[in-house]
Amino acid sequence: MNLVNKPVEKNQIVDVEITSMTHDGLGVAKVGNFPIFIKNTLPGESVSVKVIAIKKNFAIGKVIDIYKQNELRIEPKCPIYKQCGGCNLQHLSYYGQLQIKTKNVKETLKRIGGIETTVHDCIGMEDSWKYRNKTQVPFGLYNDEVVAGFYRENTHDIINMNSCDIQDETADEIINYLKIVSKKYQLIPYNEENHSGNLRHVIVRKGYVTNEYMVTIVTKEKKLENKKEFINDLVNKFPMIKSVVQNINEKKTNTIMGNAQKVLYGENYIFDYIGDVKFAISSRSFYQVNPIQTNKLYDKVLEYANLTGNEIIIDAYCGIGTIGLYLSKKARSIYGVEIIPDAIRDAILNAKINSFTNAHYEIGKAEEVIKIWQKDNIKADIIIVDPPRKGCEKALLETIIEMKIPRVIYVSCDPATLARDLKILNENNYNINEVQPVDMFPHTMHVESIVLLKLKEADN
Ligand SMILES: C[S@@+](CC[C@H](N)C(=O)[O-])C[C@H]1O[C@@H](n2cnc3c(N)ncnc32)[C@H](O)[C@@H]1O
Repeated sequence: MNLVNKPVEKNQIVDVEITSMTHDGLGVAKVGNFPIFIKNTLPGESVSVKVIAIKKNFAIGKVIDIYKQNELRIEPKCPIYKQCGGCNLQHLSYYGQLQIKTKNVKETLKRIGGIETTVHDCIGMEDSWKYRNKTQVPFGLYNDEVVAGFYRENTHDIINMNSCDIQDETADEIINYLKIVSKKYQLIPYNEENHSGNLRHVIVRKGYVTNEYMVTIVTKEKKLENKKEFINDLVNKFPMIKSVVQNINEKKTNTIMGNAQKVLYGENYIFDYIGDVKFAISSRSFYQVNPIQTNKLYDKVLEYANLTGNEIIIDAYCGIGTIGLYLSKKARSIYGVEIIPDAIRDAILNAKINSFTNAHYEIGKAEEVIKIWQKDNIKADIIIVDPPRKGCEKALLETIIEMKIPRVIYVSCDPATLARDLKILNENNYNINEVQPVDMFPHTMHVESIVLLKLKEADN
């Protein structure tokens, strides 16, 4: 696109129509072919916009007035919605959010992968609030008061938050209480600018079914001021806390957790169930944050797996083993692979606490370990891939194709990389049977998708 002559200038006010939305929840309008991205707008709206920044291929606009509203626009529930970068779809009704997510998956598959297949309506929640089982907030000082909350969008300024509509209420209460006790016990919040203070982040995790809580306190230093009194105070006030962990992050970095940690109270784990499978969750392991939707997601995987009891399943990118173990009672064996050693340690423990003896785990890169299984002549009937946002390594897809694994169930949190990977499989003898989007993150633009692919020969 030759955009030497941009059709708009900085500070110009233009009237435009919003035609689509980006994956970050920004409305998109076009002047000629030149896109303007505008926060807090929705497709179908006519708006007056001030151009606040011009980049090489696009501009950013700020709404001045909305002349014609999308009929599904609503008043955001959260009082700090405009400042906070956590949610970006609260100005759209939940019904509208699900529609947009389905459309987004459909269009992305077509645009990037050239794929036209059955995309079902996104599976939503009955109650789309208070769904998160994990709350993670930075601590800081503002006017001598301890604050904790979310970063203002695109900054590291902490917006103090007492409750959040998508988080667990008890987790909010624990954090509010920690603001009080940290002051009482002189645990000084961390200051990013001069790398001073000690209390950096607090992470609260909840076992949804067990109601067990784990609190991880991230500090800059090994020492934790008045540790004994501080922890006593906290667990007496919240007896549902079964584990308190101190994680130490001495570095000047944006990464939240450091490598060293110690258990200050209780065990290293809390427990939770997905269906009737029990899981031990440690402070650093990946565990889906929306337990109600995780159940629906895994049930859909189970449906697509259509197990008879004889299947050998590869669970690639297995984390702490959740998906594979959810299926394992109905399968012959599970082969799980994951890059993080701690997660594999947890997966092995999880198999053990459920008395599942048919699950085998390897630490390593999925794209490398699968080669070993190929050499060992493991004849997998199904492979489940659940990669991070960047999608699968090409080498993994190539081995799946070489091994002619009859069924692939792809669980994806990014429609764009999903489309790229599906295209490769589709061009190499796999039919894409159907796609099921699931809303794991209401009020944000994120969408999870599950795809069933079948090897063409096996499909006949
Ligand atoms: C989206 S999570 C899925 C975890 C798990 N399936 C679940 O549902 O809880 C992706 C996982 O892939 C792991 N991972 C990232 N790159 C990997 C690779 N090349 N090989 C194996 N695992 C990898 C991450 O550590 C993470 O646990």
